[in-house]
Amino acid sequence: MEVPYKRVMSLYALFLVYFGMVGMLLSAELQKFNQAAKDDGSLSFLVIGDWGRRGSFNQSEVAFQMGKVGEKLDIDFVVSTGDNFYDNGLTSEQDPTFEESFSKIYTANSLQKQWYSVLGNHDYRGDAEAQLSPFLRKVDSRWLCLRSFVVNAGLAEIFFVDTTPLVDMYFSDPEGHSYDWRGISPRKAYISSLLKDVELALSESSATWKIVVGHHAIRSVGHHGDTKELMEQLLPILKANNVDFYMNGHDHCLEHVSDTSSPIQFLTSGAGSKAWRGDIKGLNGHGVNFFYDGQGFMSVQLTPLEAEIAFYDVLGKVLHRWNKSKLLHSSI
Ligand SMILES: *[C@@H]1O[C@H](CO)[C@@H](O)[C@H](O)[C@H]1NC(C)=O
Ligand SMILES: *[C@@H]1O[C@H](CO)[C@@H](O)[C@H](O)[C@H]1NC(C)=O
Repeated sequence: MEVPYKRVMSLYALFLVYFGMVGMLLSAELQKFNQAAKDDGSLSFLVIGDWGRRGSFNQSEVAFQMGKVGEKLDIDFVVSTGDNFYDNGLTSEQDPTFEESFSKIYTANSLQKQWYSVLGNHDYRGDAEAQLSPFLRKVDSRWLCLRSFVVNAGLAEIFFVDTTPLVDMYFSDPEGHSYDWRGISPRKAYISSLLKDVELALSESSATWKIVVGHHAIRSVGHHGDTKELMEQLLPILKANNVDFYMNGHDHCLEHVSDTSSPIQFLTSGAGSKAWRGDIKGLNGHGVNFFYDGQGFMSVQLTPLEAEIAFYDVLGKVLHRWNKSKLLHSSI
C-alpha cells in the first residue's frame, strides 16, 4: 500500500516541530545583550549586592559613595549580585519597594546607567517574576533582571547565572520560608539545562575577560560559607572554560579569595546594606586575600591587558586593590 507523499511530509514536519520544541525546552540559548564599551575599548563598572532596604542599614551611604566612585571611574554599567529587595523580594510589579529601595536610592548621575541584576534567595521569597517583568523597565529604564543571561561588552563577556535553584536547602527550608518556584520545576531539568546553557555560552565566547555572576558564593569564609552545590556543579564548568572572575553576593561582606587549583578569583560584593555579621569562618589558608565584614561595594576596570579590582567601604575608602595582567599570565 502506498502512503500518500503529502501525509508523510506532514508527519515529518510534525516530528521536526515536536523535537525542535523539546530541544528548546531542554536547552534554550541564553539571551544576549550588547553593552557598549568606552571609545578605547576599556570598561569599568561597579558591583553591589544584598541592598534593597529603603536606604536603611547604610544602604544610602553606600549608594552615595558608589555615585562618587562611579563618576571618577566613568562607569559603563552596574552589576547587582541579587537579594535586590528585602526581606521578601517584591510583592508584585506595582510594589512601591522597587522605587523606594532602588530608584530613589541610587540617584547619583554616574549611576544612571544600565543595571544588570540576578535574583537572590530573598527575591525568590516574593513574586520572583515581578522582578523579571518588562513593566519594571518602564518604571526605571536602568533596571534589567533576568534569571540567566549574557552581556557582551566587547573585551569582556559577563555570564549571569540563576544560582538559587541549585541550592538544596531552599527546597526543604528549615525556617519554613516559601519560595516562588514558578518556571523552575521540574527542578532537575531546570538545573541541567541551565548548566548546559552556561557551558555552551562560555565555550563559544572569545572575549578577553570572562566573568560569571551569581548570587551565591562558590568560595566564601563569611556567614554562609562555601556553596557545596556550586563547587560541585558550576565550578568545574568555569575551570574548563578559562573564566577569570566569579562575582557574587549572599554573604553580607566584601571578600577576595583565589582558587587554589585554577586562576579563577572569587569576588564577593554583598555588602550593599545590612552587614557586620561578625562570624567569619577563619582567614587562614584556602587562598583568602581579603575579607571585610562591613558595608561597601566593588569596582572593576578592564583593558585588553589588565584588570583592576577594588573594594570600598561605606566612606568610600579603598580597602583592597588587586590587578590581574593577561600578559603576565599568558607568559608564565
Ligand atoms: C554604618 O556605617 C558606620 C561607619 O562604618 C558604622 O559605624 C555603622 O555601624 C553602620 N551602621 C550600620 C547599621 O551598620
Ligand atoms: C592596575 O591596573 C590599572 C588599570 O589598567 C592601572 O592603571 C594600574 O597602574 C595597575 N596597577 C598596578 C599596581 O599594576
